[in-house]
Amino acid sequence: MLRVRAPAKINLCLHVGERRSDGYHELESLVVFADVGDDLVLEDASDLSLAIEGPFAGALSGEADNMVLRAARGVAKIAKRDLNKRITLTKNLPVASGIGGGSADAGATIRAFLLEWPRDEIKLADFAALAGTLGADVPVCFFGQNAWIAGRGDEIYRCEVPELHAVLINPGTSLSTRDVFERLKARTGTGVIERPDGFGSGADLIEFLGVTRNDLEAPALSLAPEIGAVLSVLRACDRIRLARMSGSGATCFGLFDDAASAEEAAAKIASENPNWWIASTIL
Ligand code: C5P
Repeated sequence: MLRVRAPAKINLCLHVGERRSDGYHELESLVVFADVGDDLVLEDASDLSLAIEGPFAGALSGEADNMVLRAARGVAKIAKRDLNKRITLTKNLPVASGIGGGSADAGATIRAFLLEWPRDEIKLADFAALAGTLGADVPVCFFGQNAWIAGRGDEIYRCEVPELHAVLINPGTSLSTRDVFERLKARTGTGVIERPDGFGSGADLIEFLGVTRNDLEAPALSLAPEIGAVLSVLRACDRIRLARMSGSGATCFGLFDDAASAEEAAAKIASENPNWWIASTIL
């Protein structure tokens, strides 16, 4: 039995550039991973199957072709053999919410199969290429470490980011990434900010983030005004340094000075908004 984590992916900033000939947009983003995520368990079986459990399992029940199965079939193709596993996905993260979700699950699935792969057969480029075919966010989720990403999301540069105390909030809204991109009007563009290698302190990072934005926040807000309520509630908290939306939304994050401030804020917001998904986490 093999257990792997599919951590939530947070875009601390996200700048969108030109639309490319393949229909995707150029983008630049600082991506970090949280200590909350989905969980995957792989067990030997007579064929490949997927069972979905957990608080957000229901949101995926109608989906014919889950990202986990697409990733597993992709690995089987590279391996040129059947990979007979019963996979159980515990869906702890809200679906279609800007924090990876399906991309994190797909990236973790590829990583899981790699753990059991004969070492002399591993050609990482094949797996990275597979990740790229599954979605723009899957390569960085497969990489699984804090990174600056560019291109359509497939150019990955390692970036050292100090530990951050955060609160994640989703107001119960699913948004389609495609719909959000279609509403995009104002773009920061790419190449405006010099690619960072890393940050020595939280203060350095916050200063850097101050000159960045998430270009998808405005179009997402036009589709889901409740994002505005989430950001206002976060900004009203004590010892908050920054509140912003992640990815194409609707999940927002708040960065706090320390763990106690984040936990206090999360508890207070949860008591006032019992229908929101709220997680106090370390990024
Ligand atoms: O690759 P993924 O399925 O996550 O992308 C969903 C949609 O988001 C794409 O079909 C595209 O409309 C948009 N997108 C984009 N540029 C990116 C990433 C996603 O336009 N770099």
